[in-house]
This record gives sequence, C-alpha cells and structure tokens, in this order.
Amino acid sequence: MAKIMKQDAFRSQVGLILAAAGSAVGLGNLWGFPYKVGENGGGFFIVLYLFFAIAVGLPLMIAEFVIGKNAKNNSSIRMFKKIPTNNELPAKFFASIGILGCIASTILASFYAVIAGWSFEYLLRGITTGYGEFAQGQEYAEVYFNSLVGDFSRSSIYATTFIVLALGISYFGIRAGVEKASKILMPILVSILLFLVVNGVLSSGLNQTVDFLLTPRLVALDGTPINIPRTVISAMSQAFFSLSLGLAAMITYASYMQKDTRILGVSAKIVFFDTCVAFLAGFAIFPIVFAQGASPQQGTGLVFNALTVCFANLRFGRLLGILTFALLLIAALTSIVAMVETMISGITGGTKIKRQYAVMFMGVVLIIGSIFAQPALGFSIPILNQLSDDVIGQLDALVMNFFIPVIAFLTVIFVGFRLKKELLFQEFRSRTVAVVFYRYLRYVIPCLVVLVFLGGLYDLFGK
Ligand code: PHE
Repeated sequence: MAKIMKQDAFRSQVGLILAAAGSAVGLGNLWGFPYKVGENGGGFFIVLYLFFAIAVGLPLMIAEFVIGKNAKNNSSIRMFKKIPTNNELPAKFFASIGILGCIASTILASFYAVIAGWSFEYLLRGITTGYGEFAQGQEYAEVYFNSLVGDFSRSSIYATTFIVLALGISYFGIRAGVEKASKILMPILVSILLFLVVNGVLSSGLNQTVDFLLTPRLVALDGTPINIPRTVISAMSQAFFSLSLGLAAMITYASYMQKDTRILGVSAKIVFFDTCVAFLAGFAIFPIVFAQGASPQQGTGLVFNALTVCFANLRFGRLLGILTFALLLIAALTSIVAMVETMISGITGGTKIKRQYAVMFMGVVLIIGSIFAQPALGFSIPILNQLSDDVIGQLDALVMNFFIPVIAFLTVIFVGFRLKKELLFQEFRSRTVAVVFYRYLRYVIPCLVVLVFLGGLYDLFGK
C-alpha cells in the first residue's frame, strides 16, 4: 500500500515556535486576559494564572506536542490510529480528540472572527477620522460599540474579510503560508506591543497599574469580594485557552515539526512568550485606562469602549489607537490560522484531498458560522442563555467550559495511559525527571482538568 507521506512541514524550529506562539498570542491575551484581570481582583488572578500556565499548561503542551511529533500524518483525527501505543487495543476512541478539536475550532473561529472583525472598524476609524468623537465619553463609546455589534451587515463584512485573510494564509500551507506569515507578523506584533508598553510605562497611570496588577487582593477595586472558586477556575481555563491547549491546535502544529525538535525547550519558550505577552498587554492597556481615570472593571468592553475614549483624550491617541487595533488584528489573525489548520489538516491529513479544496470548504463553513455568531442575528443557545445574553458569550462558554476541558482530559489520558511511554521519556535527559513528570501527567493533571470541567458545569447549572 502506498504510504501517504507528510508533504509539508515547518522549515525550522524557529518557524514552529513563531507559528505556535502566534497561535497562543491572540484575543485571549490582549482582550480576555486584561478584562479578566480587571474583573477578578488584579494581582490575585495573575498569581493563579501564572501557577496554572506553568503547572498545568506546560505539561499539557508537552503532551500535545508528543502526540503531534509522533504522528504519521497531520490529521488530528486520523493520526491516533497510527501512533505507537502500549497495547493492541485500537486507539480509535482517541480520534475523538481530533473530532472534538475540529468542532470546537470551528465554533471558536466563527465567533473569534466576529470579535476580530470589530477591530477592523476601530482601526479604520483611527486611520480615516481619528477617535475625536469618543471624547464625548464612555456612554457615547458604548452606544457606538452597540450600534456596530447590532449592525449585521457591517459586522458580517468585517468578519468575512478577516476569515478570507486567514484562509489566504492557510491556502499556501505550512511552510509557504503559516510559517512565512508568522515570521513576518510576529515581529510586527512584538514591536507594536513593546511600543505600547513603553508608552504605558512612561504614562501617569503606571503606579496604579503596578499596584493593580501586582498586589494580590481578594476584593475587586469597587470593594466587592471576589468569588474565589470561580476565579480559580477562570484562571485555569484562561491559561488553557491562552496557550491554545485543549483544541487539538498544538497537536496539529506539532505534527508538522521536524523530528529532531526538542519538545521541552520549545514548549517552555512558547509558555514563557505567551505569558509575557499577556503581562505586557496589561502594561500596555491599564496605564492608559488609569491615566484617564477610567475603570479597569469593564468586562468585555474594556478594549473597545474604555480605550477608545482614552485614545480620544490622549496626545498621540490616534497613533496609539491605530497601533492597538492593528495589534489585536495581527494577534487574532495568527491565532485563527491555527484553528483553521486544525480543521484543514483534520480534513486533508492522510488523505488525497487537496488543501485548496479544504480551504474553500472551510471558508464556506466559517462564513456561515460567523453569521450565526453575530449578536445582531439574535441567535441563542437555550441551555447556555443563563450564562450570557449574547451568542458570543454563550459560544465562548461552550468552548471554555466544555470542549477545552474534555479534549484536554482525553489528551492527558492518551499520553499518560495509552501512548508508548518511551516516546515521552526520550524527550527527557534524566530518567528520574521523566518518571516524575509521567506520574504527574497521569495522576495530577487529569484531576485538575476535571476540576475545571466541574467548575464550568457549576457555573452553568449551579446558579
Ligand atoms: N490562544 C488563542 C488566544 O489566546 C486562542 C486559540 C485557541 C488559538 C486555540 C488557536 C487555537 O486568543
């Protein structure tokens, strides 16, 4: 039987790191992290987040990378059948990791494109007229934002443009598309972010920002006590999401890595980079918010509403605004490319289906998905509507509370109990460390993941 060979791969380890870091750094870091820090008592959330990123996120990333590295094809669904396992039983069941991953990535990419699309509007506003009109204040910004969200055609055009951009990158494959785009976009992203951080550090809001981000407190800024269990769960699921874990995305990227790639080093670098970016995003955004006397506790509207008002009042606000929304767009683009790759590889990997057809198919699926994810359409998921009254909040909860913990659980169980031990052990120089890690992955991580899952269920039904 003719062997189906891998046809495409990352040219270099740097390319893989940049693409994986590009996947990790996204709206989760620049939009989700700051607003969750704002809502959950600043420093307290950060301490928890750091702990979970290192203690749970890193091992999980190593687990995903081990699977991908040892895969014989790039399909997150079909690869499980051919990975060397401990026993004879078919690993078919674990194909569910890929199937669920593809479903979750489709849902996530659909609403991710909608949010990213809104950044287009604000970027264009900055370029064409500037943010002067937002000087009227927070209320005006909110009305403006709500009118954008409620404008089905405008919002859909932005989302579709964004999807087409992402698919345009995917079309060229890993080496000529994803890797190349990451090599161009990631340095731009880092430069913009650093520029914004320098601006933040030089601004009068720095002291309050340092206090807010670095002092762990159990009450929110407005004095309300923090719900500790919920904050713990939220920090852990945010860490998974931010590191692109539990969606088969890292498994997919890893299946394109060169076989001599050192997984531990690569994973540590990605976790480090992603965490730094989340932190830096805090230092880019909160000083502007504090310097203008705005509230950091604005939930999801923090970036779109609070910041635009600030940009209207700042000296170089227009430039800062343009850069901030460009930053959001670039970060979102390299992330959605990873989601799309999970689906495209899921379709094409190990088959003769051409990537180009899969890209076109996904284009149709995502454009339809993003239409359903438009809050303006008023679509709602009955069981989830007590969590959020807009569809994006509901889909977000579905991915965060259900798909990510379930897929992450299956992944660690596969690596801990099914995968041939040696495949993991050979990544470690010391056998003792490998054994300790292996036990930790087998027994501790699954329990923690179950905890996130139960916490998510409690959030759903416990109220
Ligand atoms: N990590 C991305 C973020 O922080 C989200 C993402 C998840 C991207 C899964 C790709 C795959 O926004």
